Amino acid sequence: KTKVMEVFEGIPLPVALFSKENLHFASKFQFQDTDILLVSYPKSGTHWVQQILSLMLNKEDLQNQNNIPTFTRAPLLENFSFQKEWIKIPEPRLLTTHLPANFFSNKLKNSKVRVVFLVRNPKDVLVSSYHFHNFSKFLPDFNSFDDFFHHFIEGKVCYGSWFNHTKSSLGVWHELNSFLITYEDLSQLSRTWAIFLGQKLEPDDMENILHYSSFSSMSQNDCLNYSSSIDLFDHSKGKFFRRGVTGNWKEHFSPEQNDKFNNIYQEELGDLNFKFDWSL
Ligand code: PPS
Repeated sequence: KTKVMEVFEGIPLPVALFSKENLHFASKFQFQDTDILLVSYPKSGTHWVQQILSLMLNKEDLQNQNNIPTFTRAPLLENFSFQKEWIKIPEPRLLTTHLPANFFSNKLKNSKVRVVFLVRNPKDVLVSSYHFHNFSKFLPDFNSFDDFFHHFIEGKVCYGSWFNHTKSSLGVWHELNSFLITYEDLSQLSRTWAIFLGQKLEPDDMENILHYSSFSSMSQNDCLNYSSSIDLFDHSKGKFFRRGVTGNWKEHFSPEQNDKFNNIYQEELGDLNFKFDWSL
């Protein structure tokens, strides 16, 4: 597979999976008021949230749902296979995008579409993304962690700048019918989510959903863990469900990289009323 990336609408994406037509389709997408759209920068815990939301929406059918890949239950708007997939998904449609919110915000402002914004400590995103670039056959290789670190802070990685993406989400989320969640808070599943989704969940439902969305359950589930996707991933180089923890960046960042990252974070997002707890 080619590992070449091309810039589509300002966003670097692997040509093996994306084309101009896909981005055009995503930008012209007609939302319905019943849609639920998950917006995340890659490696923020998208699969985890897809799993939780789709199980909450289908609490009567947990076991069957658990055997369907999450990206089939919550297709990626800009993915090449989506145009075939989306027809099959029932209402309310659960949709996913890794594109920045400004791609869709004008359309969403005048709609009832429920939008779930997911953000994760960017230092952990960077580390997860570094391993994912090595693991994926469709993404470029990097010489070292430091090489990847510099590409990430310059936005020269798959889906571009985390800083721009996150500024875009944090800039509009309060104007939309939306919910902002962090990876760091995800382990405390909240009933508020269910209310947002219009679902009434009994304690037993919550317990089952917690079980099926745990890292151990998802990583061992061959329907979810991409273990058979040998054309996309090099399984000798890693796992899709890699660590599933907070604070893994501390084992990767040097003190110099950490200082550099903190300075850039402060420049880019320092003015926003949103803080990550770096001690996690
Ligand atoms: S992708 O490819 O962009 O859609 O990746 P995404 O799903 O956004 O993020 C993958 C990271 O999320 C971790 N993950 C989980 N952590 C805890 N619990 C559960 N259930 C879970 N599911 C996925 C996954 O391991 C990746 O993070 P890292 O840090 O690499 O382990």
